[in-house]
Amino acid sequence: MSTAVAVSELQAEIRRLAQQKNAVILAHNYQLPEVQDVAEHVGDSLQLARIAAETTADRIVFCGVHFMAETAAILNPDKMVLIPDPAAGCSLADTITAEQLREWKALHPGAIVVSYVNTSAEVKAETDICCTSSNALAVVNSIPEEQEILFCPDMFLGSYVKRMTGRQNMHIWLGECHVHAGIRPSQIELLRAEHKGADFLIHPECGCVTQSMDYLASGHISSERTFLLSTGGMINHVKNSPDTDFVVATEVGILHPLQRENPHKRFYPVHTEAVCKYMKMITLEKVLHSLKHDEFVVTVPEDIARKARRSIDRMLAIG
Ligand code: 13P
Ligand code: SF4
Repeated sequence: MSTAVAVSELQAEIRRLAQQKNAVILAHNYQLPEVQDVAEHVGDSLQLARIAAETTADRIVFCGVHFMAETAAILNPDKMVLIPDPAAGCSLADTITAEQLREWKALHPGAIVVSYVNTSAEVKAETDICCTSSNALAVVNSIPEEQEILFCPDMFLGSYVKRMTGRQNMHIWLGECHVHAGIRPSQIELLRAEHKGADFLIHPECGCVTQSMDYLASGHISSERTFLLSTGGMINHVKNSPDTDFVVATEVGILHPLQRENPHKRFYPVHTEAVCKYMKMITLEKVLHSLKHDEFVVTVPEDIARKARRSIDRMLAIG
């Protein structure tokens, strides 16, 4: 375990090198606290994709999981995109391959494919339009009502969107993230009883989402106090809320930016074991190594990148 001095020395060296090499460091909200603190921008997957699309830096050091760095590489074919540990994957992205998607499409000719950004570049290349947790509803609402939709890979986000939009012609791939699927309705129940006055912030990937929607529909949970939000949406919600107590159902890395920006508010994680081991593979030592040696470069073959970019650009155009 690094001492506080070692951490601040590493951070100072990373900042110095980043400036020297005109590199921008981006970090997802689930990254280790010390990695978030050294990054120039911290955000959710949509916010980071937007920043990656607009940056003027020569290098992008992506502190997140592989599909996020791949998205940055697709959006910036002329820039060097680095990931400090190429083994930082995503269990959700791994639930569907391009081959499986092609087979699914063959069963539904003419359907529009909406893929969550937690997918490989090859899957994005087979996709019509990407979405993230913060814009999935807007993306599906942008598709004409009579148009059949294939939504992949997250079944909880898919069922949430289906319910909110009332779409009957939406087929959902049965993929899940092992971290969020582990957040169960019973844990929400427990926290609801313990913190009656708190707001409930739930990531739409959670295993408790379907049940939470039922509670909302039946009035068991006040819709005024329950919010299905992306990680960036949670941060905005807390910042703009006069309330002081929040129950948080997502990966626990989010507690760091929430607490840092709102030192006088209280946060209660629904599941303290909700830790994404892939996100935590990125350490300060690896970020420094990445900057020093320009490793590990993330590349996407040109034909795949061109097709994948279309689906990401369509998403970015919607919001
Ligand atoms: P957000 O886009 O809400 O940050 O979610 C990304 C993710 O991987 C959730 O597990
Ligand atoms: Fe993937 Fe789940 Fe980790 Fe998010 S929390 S990066 S969906 S494995």
